[in-house]
Amino acid sequence: MNSKWIYIALCTLSIGNHSFAQKKATSEQTIEKLLQRMTLQEKVQMIHANSSFATAGIPRLGIPPLIMSDGPHGVRVEHGNDWIVDKNVNDSGTYLPTGNTLAATWNKSLGYSFGTVLGKEAKYRGKDVILGPGINIIRTPLNGRNFEYLSEDPLLISKMVTGYIKGVQDQGISACVKHFAANNQEIQRTSINVQMSERALREIYLPGFKTAVTEAGVNTIMGAYNKFRGQWCSHNNYLLNQILKKEWGFKGIVISDWGAVHNTTEALMNGTDIEMGTDIGSPAFPYPQFYMADTVVKLVQNGQIAESIVNDKVRRILRIMHKTHMLGGKRIPGAYATKTHQQVAQKIAEEGIVLLKNERNLLPLTNTIQSIAVIGENAVRKNAMGGGSSQVKATYEITPLVGLQQQVPHNTTITYSKGYSIVRNATADTSLINEAVAAAKKADVAIIVGGWVHGYDYTKWSDNAYDAEDTDKPDMNMPFGQDALIKAVIQANPNTIVVLMGGGAIDMRQWIHQVPAIVQAWYPGMEGGTALARILLGKVNPSGKLPMSFPKQLSDCGAHKLGEYPGKNGEVRYNEDIFVGYRYYDTYGVTPQFAFGHGLSYTQFNISGLSLKKIGKQVMASVTIRNTGTMAGAEVIQLYVNEVKPVVKRPTKELKAFEKVFLAPGQQKQVQLLLPAEAFEYYSDKDNKFVHQPGKYWILAGNSSDKITAKAAIQL
Ligand code: BGC
Repeated sequence: MNSKWIYIALCTLSIGNHSFAQKKATSEQTIEKLLQRMTLQEKVQMIHANSSFATAGIPRLGIPPLIMSDGPHGVRVEHGNDWIVDKNVNDSGTYLPTGNTLAATWNKSLGYSFGTVLGKEAKYRGKDVILGPGINIIRTPLNGRNFEYLSEDPLLISKMVTGYIKGVQDQGISACVKHFAANNQEIQRTSINVQMSERALREIYLPGFKTAVTEAGVNTIMGAYNKFRGQWCSHNNYLLNQILKKEWGFKGIVISDWGAVHNTTEALMNGTDIEMGTDIGSPAFPYPQFYMADTVVKLVQNGQIAESIVNDKVRRILRIMHKTHMLGGKRIPGAYATKTHQQVAQKIAEEGIVLLKNERNLLPLTNTIQSIAVIGENAVRKNAMGGGSSQVKATYEITPLVGLQQQVPHNTTITYSKGYSIVRNATADTSLINEAVAAAKKADVAIIVGGWVHGYDYTKWSDNAYDAEDTDKPDMNMPFGQDALIKAVIQANPNTIVVLMGGGAIDMRQWIHQVPAIVQAWYPGMEGGTALARILLGKVNPSGKLPMSFPKQLSDCGAHKLGEYPGKNGEVRYNEDIFVGYRYYDTYGVTPQFAFGHGLSYTQFNISGLSLKKIGKQVMASVTIRNTGTMAGAEVIQLYVNEVKPVVKRPTKELKAFEKVFLAPGQQKQVQLLLPAEAFEYYSDKDNKFVHQPGKYWILAGNSSDKITAKAAIQL
């Protein structure tokens, strides 16, 4: 961090009043003038990595290096130029809840708060680009990176990501939306060739990226590792040139994933603007030998590639540098590890944790509870450094056990037993189970904190790599013998609550009917334990909603039933097409364990009185929501669209608008939700475009994809 500021100061000093960058010319003029002053070598120096997370700057022209950092939910641990973790730097900052926790809030304004924290912390740490958000569609529960991603639904992704990006970029930092595109599994992520219909691409896999570009104005985008229709995504002509740059008019920078470039000419011609990578930056393959390095200079000098191709890339980089005030060294420092940032982390966790089940109103725990047996290694495990490139060194991390200890009334006693051991391939441990059972018997309630775990040590992903980069989960089964533990504890104490950590669905069939209360806690960030405890104790009324369906078992999932996973002979076909997540479960009559959009509250809401008004091709929906219970709380009104007689097969329902509403007990509100023309469109493979088909549509309103309480039809 310090070295960067010193660098900028030196650049500014060395160019003094002669700096083109400091002149108040219009941005494009400034950029053109800078370009004219650059040598070919200097231009090429800007389009490839010069260290693990930066390109080279051009000090004589006052152009700083472009410094990047992961990641999606906090500014990553500081790495040196050479990938070695820096010591003696202040890199302990805010660890925000992971992507699917944010998505589970269904609160668009929290996307902005999240992004603001990231942007401010990135700025403080001297970064220019934050490598997030990750928004790939959650296609299978097995994907090791689902925890970073947001949802199975393109609309929910689009709405949450817009705030996130604006929050980051309003701080003068570039967001980098990733991984473009169709990077939906980690198994064979650097080689798999993804095949899908144009319709699936347009309706499911691209809308989040399109919104990031056209509505949120994202400055940079990361090309994925995998291939799409036979060509590497990081230099895929169709995705980068045709769709991203031409159709969507993207003016920013395409950055390759680390080591995702494989061919100089393709990268130059097909839209890659910066080649990043680290492993290949080792002495065996130093940076000048990158595909977009010295070879490019030779190709241009030989007349094989026009210099204008390189100019376009440099122009894009300069444009973003200008936009984010990197040129001229005028940036102001951000803020780091502040109380306000920690409060944002807590708020997102409080709104993102989902109450899945609550029989007998076991939750919230009342003041009459005198003793709690906390069980499970996830209750004491810290997660900030887990999962891969999204690792964050947290200033502190409140675990579920500590959160409970801090939040319970003074007269409540808490015991802790481990219950299971987080060791790869560990099975049920009888002595740990016996200990947990004994503790549960003595307590008023037992809280088992289990579920998935993060791959912990970045260098040893294979150790416990359930939610981790570069690997997928082997199946949906609870690891470490947790099924046996839960079954034994519920026998010992009927007041057992199961809290699940992790990036998504786990197979609950062995105990779901016996356990009265289940909470989905994801990886809820540095204040996650506080948020969880406050929910369990009723200081916070839960309002999180599942951003992805939880199937009962893996074979129920559309991608596994109709599609392929992980593919054959290096290729995976998405034969389930647009029937991803609830689009599959609803349309094919498969009941999930917990439906998309599901999430309970300690109060009750009534959603009724849906009325519709046509405004051209759009529809304005008006709906009444009332808090009929006794506690203040928030509910998400979800609007789904169903076309009555479609000309092509369409899902039974698709989310097209939503709004989170906060209501005091007894309070009622009339809420208006706009369904834009696109809400009714489908992508026609025949006509190669989105089609707005006249006809009758049902608009369905509810608080979950499986709890529709009001519906109305409209003729368009
Ligand atoms: C990941 C990216 C990450 C990059 C830099 C890659 O392995 O796929 O998401 O931003 O590394 O750490």
